[in-house]
Amino acid sequence: MTIHDLDGFKKAAALKAVEFVHDGMVVGLGTGSTAKHLVLVLGERVRSGMKLRGVPTSQETAALARDCGIPLLDSENRWEIDVAIDGADQVDPEFNLIKGGGGALLKEKIVAASAKQFIVMVDHTKQVPVLGGSFPLPIEVIPFGWGSTAREIEVLTKSRVVLRERNGTPFKTEAGNLIVDVHIDRITQPDDLETALNLIPGVVETGLFVGRTNVLIVGTPQGVQTLHVSPKR
Ligand code: A5P
Repeated sequence: MTIHDLDGFKKAAALKAVEFVHDGMVVGLGTGSTAKHLVLVLGERVRSGMKLRGVPTSQETAALARDCGIPLLDSENRWEIDVAIDGADQVDPEFNLIKGGGGALLKEKIVAASAKQFIVMVDHTKQVPVLGGSFPLPIEVIPFGWGSTAREIEVLTKSRVVLRERNGTPFKTEAGNLIVDVHIDRITQPDDLETALNLIPGVVETGLFVGRTNVLIVGTPQGVQTLHVSPKR
């Protein structure tokens, strides 16, 4: 299977996700290659007369949405988001997620938490029996004392913690924070782990999205599957 095939499955999932967007809605716009397909299709809908307003989860998504003519709400606001739609890096059988491969996890989680409905679009390779393993868990930490924060995370998870870098320098999030990637073999209790990580001083947010997914849309070689979930929170 090639990257091109995977992109086709992502696009098919995004096309399905657009069916959940109706005239007049406020839409949380995710970040990443799958969300890019979504924004492009929503842009087409707007050009055909659909009225919607977007809340982007990154500067990259905001720029694309503006190019596509999608009106955006102010970032510093109290939004009423009807539906947030985003990609994910891993999905477990309980529809819990790892996100943050692109480093946008903080805004993504705020937008997902603010939305009445959270829709996740993935290609089938993102589905895993247990979170972790092949994909490290991203955690956003404040730069002050990040090494000490990383050590706390290491002790808690008993796993290797690596500072994310880009072009040889520490990767900075849009909030000016750092990302550490935690190489955890198996995340069997994501709820407990999310809570424990969030109690460590210096941790801003984790890439674990537990019990937030309402609808999971999976692009597969056999077609698109749409799974409706009862969220725990
Ligand atoms: C961005 O920080 C991530 O959470 C993305 O949503 C996630 O990495 C999925 O990305 P792709 O759609 O590019 O696979």
